[in-house]
Amino acid sequence: MADLFLTGIGHLTTNVGTPVIDAVVAVSDGRIVYAGTAADAPDQTGQRIDCEGRAVLPGFVDSHTHLVFAGDRSREFARRLAGESYLEIAEGGGGILATVTATRGTSEDELYRLATGRVWRMIRSGTTTVEIKSGYGLDLETELRLLRVARRIGETLPVTVRTTFLGAHTVPHEHISDRGGYLESVVAEMLPRAAPLSDYCDVFVEDGVFSVDEGRRVLTAAQALGLGARVHAEQLGHTGGAALAAEIGAVSADHLDHATEKDARALAEAGVVAGLVPGASYTLRSRQAPARALVEAGCTIALATDCNPGTSYFESMGPIISLAVVEAGLTVDEAITAATLGGARALQLDDRGVLAPGAFADLIVLDAPNPSHIPYRPGTNLVWRVVKEGVPVG
Ligand code: NIG
Ligand code: FE
Repeated sequence: MADLFLTGIGHLTTNVGTPVIDAVVAVSDGRIVYAGTAADAPDQTGQRIDCEGRAVLPGFVDSHTHLVFAGDRSREFARRLAGESYLEIAEGGGGILATVTATRGTSEDELYRLATGRVWRMIRSGTTTVEIKSGYGLDLETELRLLRVARRIGETLPVTVRTTFLGAHTVPHEHISDRGGYLESVVAEMLPRAAPLSDYCDVFVEDGVFSVDEGRRVLTAAQALGLGARVHAEQLGHTGGAALAAEIGAVSADHLDHATEKDARALAEAGVVAGLVPGASYTLRSRQAPARALVEAGCTIALATDCNPGTSYFESMGPIISLAVVEAGLTVDEAITAATLGGARALQLDDRGVLAPGAFADLIVLDAPNPSHIPYRPGTNLVWRVVKEGVPVG
């Protein structure tokens, strides 16, 4: 017996086969029991949401965020618009390190309060699963604080959380003349303590940040502890992060603005999800990732906000889908799939990102007749209802 029905669905995106027109979804115990035509639907006695012709699709899976932080970098944003580069500002002690200073000085409860505000705005914009990275502590105590906050969000808010340890985000001030020592502390001290709070480990592989060899050292140590690997790869230049991701069998390689066709083939062959974060390219006014080459190589594409105070202060997936379509060249269907099923693949969640019997009933109803309205109307939050594991939110 189902306990929730969505009826009168004008356009249903299941991510299994083609969209269904005039559809019903039935939910029992938080999972989908039926998603298909109204004509074949089971009896609808129970709680009902009449969608009155609106579109329904899986909730967004935002597979790359840095949303636990304190402070903001709006002045840095203005400096970049006036001509300074991201790396110049970072080399002068701004950038990631400015957020590290603000975050270290903020209590766990206050970080939770700040992050909760962001996550509620994400949920109201249709996100039902989110990946959250550490990386603004860069010492043992603060990195663990960020991961605990991330886990607590998943326990207290109607959203599924996957966590990622990003101790190798950059070298902190106190180790600036001792990078070897910092890397050693990431591998030998932080990683074993962070592992019980983490699903994944990530490294920012970039000239001037961490090299391919340093990334390999951290990520293979993480894999030995049972964590999946992710890589910030080819964001500001071509450094070899994508090839590293393929070599070590990472779960995803993200950014990829400077990835080549060879990288695209290597990622596809190794089954590494290509994580696109077009909000970062937009904010930095840099090039977008070669989305068409990645699709044509056969990569699974995931779209994410990369929510962070430096390069991509986006909380909603809607504008990200719009950027992916208008600026990066995905088709509307590819972008919607990447923001839902692709994100679920990037987080290895088989029962999210699809609306089919057995999957979790994480879904959104749009106040629009079909999902093309998401990129077509980028300034409007079109989410009318959010259902998380069968429970209407709010
Ligand atoms: O994904 N590239 C590295 N990390 C973030 C930026 C972090 C920051 O600037 O605070 C990113 O763009
Ligand atoms: Fe990032």
